Amino acid sequence: MQKIFKFEELHLAAQALKRGEVIAIPTETVYGLAADITQSQAVEQIFKLKGRPTSHPLIIHIANPQDLALYTKDIPGYVDHLIQAFWPGPLTLILKKTDAVSEAVTGGQATVAVRMPSHPIAKALIEQVGHPLAAPSANRFGKVSPTHYQHVLSEFDGTVSVIDGGACQVGIESTILDVTNHNQCTILRPGMIEAIRIAALLGSTIPVLQHQKSNVSDIRASGMLKYHYAPTKPAFIVQDLSELQQRKIDYPDGIVLLSHSQRLDGIAAIDLKLPADAEGYARTFYDQLRSADASSHCAIAIEAPPQGLGWAGIWDRILKATAK
Ligand code: TXA
Ligand code: MG
Repeated sequence: MQKIFKFEELHLAAQALKRGEVIAIPTETVYGLAADITQSQAVEQIFKLKGRPTSHPLIIHIANPQDLALYTKDIPGYVDHLIQAFWPGPLTLILKKTDAVSEAVTGGQATVAVRMPSHPIAKALIEQVGHPLAAPSANRFGKVSPTHYQHVLSEFDGTVSVIDGGACQVGIESTILDVTNHNQCTILRPGMIEAIRIAALLGSTIPVLQHQKSNVSDIRASGMLKYHYAPTKPAFIVQDLSELQQRKIDYPDGIVLLSHSQRLDGIAAIDLKLPADAEGYARTFYDQLRSADASSHCAIAIEAPPQGLGWAGIWDRILKATAK
């Protein structure tokens, strides 16, 4: 039976996870579709529910920084600084895995993605289960990540149990950093913890690189696919008024506009507003994108957000949502 667990029922959710059930859980970034990493059938079930290729690895979530050494090895010294600065929080680290992590979790890879979430529900659950939780975003493969438990219900037509943890505070997925190299690190997926902050922390001895995707066979992170985090309706970026007016001719059945300024108001069939600051924008973006997708209109226009500090992760998601 599918269930919506309330905060008071966390222990029941933990028991279900221990029995090998899959449950959607809140984290500060987005909701995750969680399984105890030692329950191989539950891990398999995650891939089935998401419709995700089994070669695409899952993130595991731990509750204490000390546990990193149980699940990963050959950890560069600079990783300590990253953990102290950014954990718990929206930074995922890629490291070589130990035998405590099965290849079913890592899609056959020798590395594993690890994150320590700051959400109190996620932390309490991991502690009560006694093992890390594997949890990709709780959406179908390629679709928009959920930032509210109701998004999870609609994504899986109510067939997945979920914990009601309210709205996610960060709102887009974590920054993924490959730290397998002792002399440098590489951002595989941008997020709200930006390259510049990581570089400032590590100093010039450990350069922070941006991953350059070369071809499809090179894709190890689904979030690195060009078309991802995508709504079902056509979506595009608009820079100015004349562009939106032109698009209105292409889509006579109406456009939903996601905007953060007043510049383009009154032209689209519906205006959905986003905050003008990066943190507020990230927190609301997926929710508004889902609302736009659920509307009766036929296309989604997204006002180009600012460039600059704080916006890299948001730009990445907008470009992927509009890439088709
Ligand atoms: O904020 C987040 O990271 C959320 C919450 C639930 O923690 N999780 C999330 O998981 O976004 P997911 O699976 O939707 O995205 C994780 C990405 C995937 O694109 C996956 O391919 C990549 O991390 N990944 C996982 N393990 C990896 C590895 N060993 N090497 C490279 N990429 C990896
Ligand atoms: Mg995802």
